[in-house]
Amino acid sequence: MTITTTIDERKLEEFVGHVATELGAALNAALVTLGDELGLYRAMADGQPVTPADLATRTGTQERYVREWLNVQAASGFVLYDAAIEAYVLPPEHALVLADDTSPVSMIADFEGANAAVAVREQLVERFVSGEGVGWHEHHHGLWHGTERSFGINYRTHLVAEWLPALHGVVARLQAGGLVADVGCGHGASTILMAQAFPASRFVGFDYHEASIATARERAAEAGVADRVSFEVAGAAEYGGDGYDLVAFFDSFHDLGDPVGAARHAAQVLAPDGTCVLVEPYAGDRVEDNLNPLGRVYYGFSTLVCTPGSLSQPGRAALGTQAGEARLREALQAGGFGTVRRAAETPLNLVLEARLP
Ligand SMILES: C[S@@+](CC[C@H](N)C(=O)[O-])C[C@H]1O[C@@H](n2cnc3c(N)ncnc32)[C@H](O)[C@@H]1O
Repeated sequence: MTITTTIDERKLEEFVGHVATELGAALNAALVTLGDELGLYRAMADGQPVTPADLATRTGTQERYVREWLNVQAASGFVLYDAAIEAYVLPPEHALVLADDTSPVSMIADFEGANAAVAVREQLVERFVSGEGVGWHEHHHGLWHGTERSFGINYRTHLVAEWLPALHGVVARLQAGGLVADVGCGHGASTILMAQAFPASRFVGFDYHEASIATARERAAEAGVADRVSFEVAGAAEYGGDGYDLVAFFDSFHDLGDPVGAARHAAQVLAPDGTCVLVEPYAGDRVEDNLNPLGRVYYGFSTLVCTPGSLSQPGRAALGTQAGEARLREALQAGGFGTVRRAAETPLNLVLEARLP
């Protein structure tokens, strides 16, 4: 049998153009992080035109390298090129995204995380075949640091101002002096922010990853909150203590091998009338809901990091970064939470509140 396929030349041309753009983006990803590491964007943050020689002098780098880097940034639309004066400009809107970690729209740390995440590629080729996972601890350290930096920006913008107040009675309990478990706390960005906002309360961050817990302890000491924050190495269904007013999973629930077991444990250690909260990547329940630029980023991290992470643990639930509310709700309910509601959302996150019946 002969199958004849008709090639639509216009579609072919469009797709080749699309893939060429993607190839450029893939190559530039590493160069964006290089620019961050060397302070190249920050040295252009005044919005004034710079020549490669100026930028090299400002950053202690070599002009020939900087010129090439500026050209790929200009071709990528990250900086503008003024041919009349042979100079490059980082517009103020771009500086907010690339050159300022205090900006709520900063995305530079996401590149740090992305570049670290793709370092797992060779291992992942094997794991796609064997079905085994890759634990969080097996990744390049840039993933841990990039996550802390990127999520920290998001938490500083929303956590204390919007998400905690959206939860039933939580702010009042924390103002009065409550006890909080931050499960899968990583470097403790969320734990420390909450401790700064609620000095009468006590906070315990748990994570199975020893190196993250060591860093989190350093961060708490640096922030001057070590008197009310502690960090312990423990799995999500194994940590101690009880009577928690709040058990929180900040972008960690979908990473777990056994999210139902973690929900069950949370239900057991909560105080009467306590609250469990999940902050999760924004997602719709159906694949087609997530086929957009943000869903693409999340599916990328999911394939490289979160799905292999869950597959590396007993349970292997592999909810994925785009789990969506329905699957998260199902896991919480299977763990014993009778009431689950969407308490808040942002373009990047879903915030689900779970309470015992
Ligand atoms: C995406 S990171 C989020 C870290 C942190 N919550 C934050 O928002 O910056 C997921 C975290 O979950 C932790 N984790 C994964 N599986 C775990 C488990 N079974 N028990 C405890 N922590 C776990 C990882 O070590 C990692 O620190």
